[in-house]
Amino acid sequence: MPAALEVMQDKSHQPAAMAPSLHGWDAPTPMHKRMDGKVAIVTGGARGIGEAIVRLFVKHGAKVVIADIDDAAGEALAAALGPHVSFVRCDVSVEEDVERAVERAVARYGRLDVLCNNAGVLGRQTRAAKSILSFDAGEFDRVLRVNALGVALGMKHAARAMLARRTGSIVSIASVAGVLGGLGPHAYTASKHAIVGLTKNAACELGAHGIRVNCVSPFGVATPMLINAWRQGHDASAADDADADIDLDIAVPRDEEVEKMEEVVRGLATLKGPTLRPRDIAEAALFLASDDSRYISGHNLVVDGGVTTSRNLIGL
Ligand SMILES: NC(=O)c1ccc[n+]([C@@H]2O[C@H](COP(=O)([O-])OP(=O)(O)OC[C@H]3O[C@@H](n4cnc5c(N)ncnc54)[C@H](O)[C@@H]3O)[C@@H](O)[C@H]2O)c1
Repeated sequence: MPAALEVMQDKSHQPAAMAPSLHGWDAPTPMHKRMDGKVAIVTGGARGIGEAIVRLFVKHGAKVVIADIDDAAGEALAAALGPHVSFVRCDVSVEEDVERAVERAVARYGRLDVLCNNAGVLGRQTRAAKSILSFDAGEFDRVLRVNALGVALGMKHAARAMLARRTGSIVSIASVAGVLGGLGPHAYTASKHAIVGLTKNAACELGAHGIRVNCVSPFGVATPMLINAWRQGHDASAADDADADIDLDIAVPRDEEVEKMEEVVRGLATLKGPTLRPRDIAEAALFLASDDSRYISGHNLVVDGGVTTSRNLIGL
């Protein structure tokens, strides 16, 4: 055999570092259990996108604490999903509640690996409330307290619980309204921009401790939040009713409303074909929560079929 070929076939000279582990492929996580053994808290996990995240995390082997203000829905979901899921009442805008939710997860399961800051409110949708000329300062404050302060408090208490183990993943649900103007009410848009900024800043600080911080920005998903906003938009009396409250008044969406909303979103989308569903947002959250994204931090994963990346002004 020619000497050159002998050298090529003789692998004894290759350092051990050439083994697959160098490239991170030594112990692939089975695709169906990407959260095996991990402990997660999902805020606002009782319904909508949060519920989809809870279900997917559990499917992938996680133990999950649902932290929500809707006791009935949260308790029912936890009971339906079995012994690895529990519910804790938690208003994310109240620091003691957030601290208690983290303590509960650590006491029950021994540690915290993942926090998903999903809880959020859209804010009042009346014509007056939507205008910068007439918005109510108290309502603006309420939306910011839930959507922005709630996320910051979650980061604070989750990171404290993660510090000692020098690992952890914090995933917050922002919005396309945190990327572009004109996609949501003023307070909501300000709060979602705040989440994107907080994510980058917290990633900057917590990276030194091995903790990753990212966010996911969905386009329109036909959840109770969006359907109620749409109902108000089509109901002239509600649009002028100063007492109508989009977030507190949410009824279970009817199938035909979900279909109609999905049709509206499909019409607005750049990417034609698929319909954006809660499961798509849950898959993005799962990726950022799991070790599959172990070198990604400070990132905003926009799940919008390209809506915020382009505007077809030249007839492409
Ligand atoms: N649906 C969409 O089109 C869409 C688009 C972009 C971003 N988002 C974001 O996704 C997240 C989930 O939205 P959704 O559409 O599932 O909404 P949803 O209203 O259907 O569900 C929200 C959940 O959060 C809970 N919640 C509300 N206030 C809370 C508080 N103070 N503390 C704890 N829990 C609270 C509710 O009880 C509910 O279970 C929100 O942050 C929302 O802003 C939604």
